[in-house]
Amino acid sequence: MNIRQLLSDKFQAAMISAGIPEDCGPVVAPAKKAGFGDYQANGAMAAAKRMGTNPRELAGKILEHLDKGEMIEKVEIAGPGFLNIHLSQAWLAEQLAAAEKDPRLNIAPAAEPQTVVIDYSHPNLAKEMHVGHLRSTIIGDALARLLEFQGHKVIRQNHMGDWGTQFGMLLAHLSDKLENSDAEVALADLEAFYREAKVRFDDEEGFADRAREYVVKLQGGDPECLKLWQQFIDISISHSEEIYEKLNVTLKRSDVYGESQYNDDLPVLVKELLDRGIAVEDQGAIVVFLEEMADKEGNPSPMIIQKKGGGYLYATTDLAAIRYRANKLQADRILYVVDARQSLHLQQAFTASRKAAFLPENVTLEHCAFGTMMGDDGKPFKTRTGGTVKLAALLDEAVERASNLVAEKNPDLDPATRAEIARKVGIGAVKYADLSKTRTNDYVFSWEAMLSFEGNTAPYLQYAYTRVRSIFRRAGVEPSELKGEIHLETAEERTLAIKLCQFGEVLDQVAKDTFPHVLCTYLYDLASAYMAFYEACPVLKEGVSEAQKQSRLQLCNLVARTIATGLDLLGIEVMEQM
Ligand code: ARG
Repeated sequence: MNIRQLLSDKFQAAMISAGIPEDCGPVVAPAKKAGFGDYQANGAMAAAKRMGTNPRELAGKILEHLDKGEMIEKVEIAGPGFLNIHLSQAWLAEQLAAAEKDPRLNIAPAAEPQTVVIDYSHPNLAKEMHVGHLRSTIIGDALARLLEFQGHKVIRQNHMGDWGTQFGMLLAHLSDKLENSDAEVALADLEAFYREAKVRFDDEEGFADRAREYVVKLQGGDPECLKLWQQFIDISISHSEEIYEKLNVTLKRSDVYGESQYNDDLPVLVKELLDRGIAVEDQGAIVVFLEEMADKEGNPSPMIIQKKGGGYLYATTDLAAIRYRANKLQADRILYVVDARQSLHLQQAFTASRKAAFLPENVTLEHCAFGTMMGDDGKPFKTRTGGTVKLAALLDEAVERASNLVAEKNPDLDPATRAEIARKVGIGAVKYADLSKTRTNDYVFSWEAMLSFEGNTAPYLQYAYTRVRSIFRRAGVEPSELKGEIHLETAEERTLAIKLCQFGEVLDQVAKDTFPHVLCTYLYDLASAYMAFYEACPVLKEGVSEAQKQSRLQLCNLVARTIATGLDLLGIEVMEQM
């Protein structure tokens, strides 16, 4: 259920009946301040301006035509023509009762399910996965989970960097290593392996030439060389999978569709663009000139798709990928969870693929850009010694820090339980810290902030969840045993009820705009509304009537379920105690 949408529909209908042009929106949003109702409809002002009439009078006319139904208690006209909407108590209680019975919390699946391709994680296998890929993995996975919950068909595409000249050096080194060991052993420590290969490439006589020969052989499809490459890729992917597993990320091996997959299509694609006159030869290279992205002087933006000498580029592969996703995968919507610094590259790829009509017009291409992860010192995140941070070590550190915190808070836990809680808290903290910030901004990685039990953090929400669960343990009842109606008597209960009912519209908004922080902010506000409710409204104290207790326990249970569901959509787990 989406309150905002339901109200928008009602007010839009009333506006049309009142003779207002259809394209004047009702502008419905939750009220910003207490005392202005629960929601506001502010469309009368703009409509009056368009029609040259008095906005307050027009607001009155809208009200005359409004079908309040069961949903709206009353509407007041305020100021120059704001409409302050008060929702009906009975209707809110009814919505909560429906959510209580429904495993989906009264959230209907999307009326028009789409096929959504999400390109995320995409590490480069010739290098260790780094923090930039961490952001893509975390944000992309949250979007995948959420869109799937909304009933869309999500196709994950892990566009791994598994092809290109860097592999020559690695294959030459691997082939030497295999004389004395098998691939598993040789590649057990990938980081060390990359380093050794690089040292040889830089210093060893003749090695660089061999590396280049391997590149030529690989691109020429030499079977021996491909076999070596395949071994390297398989083991590298297994290393990535260990990270996904630790991170509780849903990516599977079958979601890997790397750059190498498009290799055969690249010459075909370039030839086609040349034949159709979309690409031209320019100083030996093949280029698509994009007038659509011209600079201020009117020079078109050049996108090279084949280098002088014949090599293909990252951009060529992305064009092939767009065509594949739109046609073979039948995507309606394609999301790229990619570093903001690749924005020009993606805009070029999007523009060129439109120009070439590689995809139906109604298929959307969206760059879900994210900023750089910074250290406490305000510089891009590095280890103390200045090296890039190893992801596996970073995640282990998160769990260890969480384990110390949990031990402090609850020293009596048995070691196995503590380890499990520490894993959920530590990993949850890393993910939530990333997801709760507006993704387009750079964000500062801070252990203290992310592991705090106060503020907008994973531990705060996980703790709020355990608090609700402990009430049920104390009450000695299971949520399934609750009965009776939900009564919203106090202001705190009402505020909490409205928050609970807003879950659906928040999910719709995130699905549309792809900003997961909106869901985080919502969950934090919900937990805060719950804390206020809990202070003001005794649940198990003496003097609370049985009906009141049943009603309030139902509210508690809905809070727990909403937090757990919301966190699950972000890829974060909850626990019964901590
Ligand atoms: N592997 C690339 C990198 O690490 C990111 C790939 C993004 N996806 C894409 N379709 N270009 O920079």
